[in-house]
Amino acid sequence: MRENPLLKARKEHYAIGAFNVNTFDEMVAIADAAAQVKLPVMLMASMSSAKFFTPSVFADLVHTLDRSYPIDIIAHLDHCTDPELLLTCAREGFDSVMYDGSHTPYQDNVRVTGELAAQCHSLGVLIEGELGIIAGEEGPVKSKFSEFTDPDCAGDFIEKTGIDSLAVSIGNQHGFYKGEPKLQFELLEELCGICTAPLVLHGGTGIPGSDIARAIRMGICKVNVGTEIRAAYARGILDYAGQHADDADVRKFVTYLRSRIQETAGRYMECFLGKEDIQ
Ligand code: 13P
Repeated sequence: MRENPLLKARKEHYAIGAFNVNTFDEMVAIADAAAQVKLPVMLMASMSSAKFFTPSVFADLVHTLDRSYPIDIIAHLDHCTDPELLLTCAREGFDSVMYDGSHTPYQDNVRVTGELAAQCHSLGVLIEGELGIIAGEEGPVKSKFSEFTDPDCAGDFIEKTGIDSLAVSIGNQHGFYKGEPKLQFELLEELCGICTAPLVLHGGTGIPGSDIARAIRMGICKVNVGTEIRAAYARGILDYAGQHADDADVRKFVTYLRSRIQETAGRYMECFLGKEDIQ
């Protein structure tokens, strides 16, 4: 099985950025941003994005970029609630997948995540699980409220399921935050002390860079970002079209869009280095 890149990240106190993508241009822009800071990166398909590309095309595109760049570029399936789709992605070339059983009763989450972990590992694929509820909307998973990850269950969940990483709910939310995000650093500290598997922070959009960097120094080794990339993409299209309505040079248009996405991803990448002087 491929070595878990999050273990190296945890040891060296950086985080791997995991970005939701829906187009090849986002993939290229994010790979460019990761290459600038020399960090590995995960390109993530939501369930609908995996179906939109087809799993094998998504994985092949990521692997093509991986071969062309001097950094590791990893294909990851995000928040999958469908075991069949998850296993299809694992068989068709994804390096890493996430099963999200966070909305099911604890024992069901343990059982299904554990069964999928065994199957993924036999295919050489890494798997992330989730415990607690992250407020907001991400693909099929929606919640108006957060339920923080219970430290009394986290160690047991990791041990029983055999997952390679755990997504935690510590005040992070999916989508744009209403008001200031308030990460529960005391809870994170407790979880870092208990959890043997690397920890993942979802809902990266809008968390202040200094908080992301602090969470990384405490032990977070993967940070997911989606909404802000989509927003940069959409704003880029509107801005370019507004100024160049008659210009049909597609490569100029795409180059502009890629630069907008690269700039946005690049701001997060700087935080993923985990340095103290990030604002
Ligand atoms: P944001 O869209 O809030 O950045 O969250 C993305 C995410 O966590 C995907 O799993």
